[in-house]
Amino acid sequence: MREAILLVGGQGTRLRPLTINTPKPMLPVAGVPFTVHQILRARDAGVTRIVLATSYKADVFADFLSNSELGAADSGIDIVIATEDEPLGTGGAIRYASSFLTSAPTDSVIVFNGDVLTGLDINALVHHHEQTNSDVTLYLTKVSDPRAYGLVPTDPTGRVLQFLEKPQTPEEIVTDQINAGCYVFTRSVIDRIPPGRPVSVERETFPELLAQSRLVSGVVDQGYWLDLGTPLAFVQGSVDLVRGIAPSPAVIAPGESLILAGAIVDPTAVISDGTTLGVNARVGVDSIVSGSVVFAGAVIGDHCVIRNSIIGEGAVIGDHCIIDGSVIGDHSQVGAHNELREGVRVWVDSVIPELSVRFSSDQ
Ligand code: GTP
Repeated sequence: MREAILLVGGQGTRLRPLTINTPKPMLPVAGVPFTVHQILRARDAGVTRIVLATSYKADVFADFLSNSELGAADSGIDIVIATEDEPLGTGGAIRYASSFLTSAPTDSVIVFNGDVLTGLDINALVHHHEQTNSDVTLYLTKVSDPRAYGLVPTDPTGRVLQFLEKPQTPEEIVTDQINAGCYVFTRSVIDRIPPGRPVSVERETFPELLAQSRLVSGVVDQGYWLDLGTPLAFVQGSVDLVRGIAPSPAVIAPGESLILAGAIVDPTAVISDGTTLGVNARVGVDSIVSGSVVFAGAVIGDHCVIRNSIIGEGAVIGDHCIIDGSVIGDHSQVGAHNELREGVRVWVDSVIPELSVRFSSDQ
């Protein structure tokens, strides 16, 4: 039996307004909730029991599982939901979820952040953890600009030397290795996290282990890695899954686009560059939808150009709109002839009237 904890209780503030109605891990990515990609990868790596550590909108996970094949007894993985009364942070959530584990104190427990898309060799990480007798082993990746991440310098043997959360000054940027959001804990280490209060593994648990000279190891894996926490990254992750660039057992036939059941596309429209069209979505005459995610039931009018954007569930985009690098909240209405570019976010249930002064644009 191999057990894992999946951290899915965060509020996903950077992805608002998409996370107003749906917790980030339950947002559909390439046709299924992101959590499903992660659970299937874990199952393929031999995980037989996974605890979903939930807090924010926990009922959405329970509802999904009760209607999904993954929740069935013969799904090949036993899924248990642990719900905190109050958000306990990453470490507190791991501690609380551990009361639902059956592992012995010396067993390895895998912990996944719920928003990381990765091609990590999970078994190699566990193997390294067990071979080196580490207390915790972290999956690390290298990025060119590490300022938004937790830096994790290691010595030549892979022993972690320090944790530097979101460094800002050039002196603090001592490595390009970052915490990539997957860990292997020896079960007894989880049991020493203080129960019943918020704890951050990144800011509290890991630095404390180093201060106690415990063995914390890092394994650099340079395969596919993306933190789906921001709208641009979310779109990128979805596109990469649709095209087969990011690995997932949930994507059976990668291709140029993914058009889900009931979606209706006018024959003159072009759906390209890894776009997903959700269930019952519609795209009108001569519209172009490229590198985007269109959620279920959204309607895109005629002569629109939608690029690198997320169109929320049931949103309606009027004719002749240009939407580029933007997020349209669920059930919003964007009137005809609007142009929304680069970082615009339209809140849920908003109404943007038709633009009466028409512009000429370089579609
Ligand atoms: P932002 O608010 O946009 O930063 O996103 P987030 O809420 O997901 O926070 P962050 O990316 O830092 O969280 C890392 C992982 O831990 C994510 O998978 C979260 O779902 C999870 N997480 C964060 N806080 C909690 C918590 O209090 N409880 C539980 N169960 N999970 C948490």
